[in-house]
Amino acid sequence: MCGIVGFIGDKEKKQILIDGLRELEYRGYDSAGIAVMDCCNISVFKAVGKIVNLEHKMKDVEFNGFGVGIGHTRWATHGKPTELNAHPHLGEFSYVVHNGIIENYQELKTFLISKGRVFLSQTDTEVIVHLFEYNLSLVEDCFNAFEKTINELKGAFAILLMTKKESDKIFFAKQGSPLIVGKSNLNEIYFSSSDAPLIGHVDDVIYLEDGEYGFAKLSEISIFKNFIKIDVAPKKLPNNKQFAQKSGFRFFMEKEIYEQSQVIADTMIGRVKDSLVHFEELENIDISKFNSIKICACGTSYHSALVGSYLFERVSKIQTSVEIASEFRYKEPLLHENTLFIVISQSGETADTLEALKMAKHANMITVAICNVDNSSMVRVADFSILTRAGIEKGVASTKAFTTQVMVLWMMALHFAQIKKVVNSEFIEKEILAMRESSNIIKVKEFYHEKVKRLSKRYLHGHGFFFIGRDVFYPLALEGALKLKEISYLHAEGYPAGEMKHGPIALADSELFTVALMPKNILHDKIKSNVEELSARDATILSISPIEFNLSDDFIKTTDTEHFMLEFFEMSMILQLFAMEISIRLGNDVDMPRNLAKSVTVE
Ligand code: F6R
Repeated sequence: MCGIVGFIGDKEKKQILIDGLRELEYRGYDSAGIAVMDCCNISVFKAVGKIVNLEHKMKDVEFNGFGVGIGHTRWATHGKPTELNAHPHLGEFSYVVHNGIIENYQELKTFLISKGRVFLSQTDTEVIVHLFEYNLSLVEDCFNAFEKTINELKGAFAILLMTKKESDKIFFAKQGSPLIVGKSNLNEIYFSSSDAPLIGHVDDVIYLEDGEYGFAKLSEISIFKNFIKIDVAPKKLPNNKQFAQKSGFRFFMEKEIYEQSQVIADTMIGRVKDSLVHFEELENIDISKFNSIKICACGTSYHSALVGSYLFERVSKIQTSVEIASEFRYKEPLLHENTLFIVISQSGETADTLEALKMAKHANMITVAICNVDNSSMVRVADFSILTRAGIEKGVASTKAFTTQVMVLWMMALHFAQIKKVVNSEFIEKEILAMRESSNIIKVKEFYHEKVKRLSKRYLHGHGFFFIGRDVFYPLALEGALKLKEISYLHAEGYPAGEMKHGPIALADSELFTVALMPKNILHDKIKSNVEELSARDATILSISPIEFNLSDDFIKTTDTEHFMLEFFEMSMILQLFAMEISIRLGNDVDMPRNLAKSVTVE
């Protein structure tokens, strides 16, 4: 998804902007661009593909001395990923970068063309800069023209605009897409659409809220809302950059799979006590008020939501439903105040999930965001939020964010069960013991990784994969299939094992690979007979289980534990490694798979 950086100051600007864009690479993009202005000259560079291409184009230039610069990584929405469509976009004397979507761009474009403006790109963004210059011809003051422009835009945006008419400033606006601004000790100004590029440059930042806009110049940030200047207190910027490096692993995804043991432990700190689970964040929720829970999410987060639904019903005895956020938004859902509404999101910026959250708020529901990014839009909108503490996740295919989400849901289920008094102390003790063991079980053991590496070579062809499981292993099967298709581009489907005979088994033959999740502690015999049915049709079976299964072609023997959630975490790690090793063998870009973005901030 698109990323934005900006800078005002004396330092060499090319490197600051390029470095900033690099920190945003994990979000996914297909072109990048930079514009720098000193006094009244503007230089602009754009390149399709990786940032290194942009850097190459800029290898002979430097921008020392006072100036302003803006940069952008673009993930194509309106118009193909071409240089012409890459940001920054030019008017006659101004440049703009933009994240989000301008919904009324078509009518604005028609109007501006009728006024003689010439458009070069297919993007919605280009209307912003032309509209600004048109408005400037009416009001003759840059800030007023910018304010008027913002008020005429519909949709979601984070915008940085610079113009030769006031060459010491950047004009900015935020509506529905994240934008952060900070001032350094030297009074330079830094902008970014997320924390990472700002770390090391500024200590305190302002997380702009929807509807806020303004201008910045050296040593000054002026913020406005509804035509009135406002004061906004800065917040401390996190300073942990170590997560942003690969630490010797081949890919961020690999590093993040290995980090799971640590982050699962972090997720429990202060929450799992000796004899109970406690969430300070939920202290003010009266759970007895709710007779049901609804969870909304997308993608991998939707899979963890499904796991949560099994746990809330089984452990907390609360009826729970789960919906894909993009479906939920338009189905005219019936929302009741006695339903607790939960959204789950790694980024906290996913447009569909954010919108679902806003709908629930609008219906006066109590809302909780389970999220990995503090100060993200969802965290700010929800009544309560629980941070998953996975650290920055750079691999586009989510791993540690998923398992920490599941950990949070498991803890929440027990937390609610304790409050509702539907479980006894013996049960709580067993659960807590298992929770404490989770961090160990998910640790990548060398022999697992070696085994997965070796057997991955047998799964590079064929006409598809079925991942099958039952109970919470059904959402895990969905997740295993999603991981594989995202980074290997092989066709894979997740299925509830009991459903295979209702149709999909028709596909079974030796070229159909079945990855069977066969835990010991839940429905082992049931899934065994489902897999036997597939084996009888000559499907190629990779079974993952602590119990030997003699009909499998490949077998990964997991740890013999006494809790299904421990089996769940161990199998999660194995499926992640499986997808990654296949992707590596196929020569794919594991961390930045084609067509995908880390944070999907458009519908
Ligand atoms: C898959 C993946 C996506 C995200 C989905 C929701 O590996 O990462 O499916 O889970 O786009 O994103 P968040 O969790 O940020 O709302």
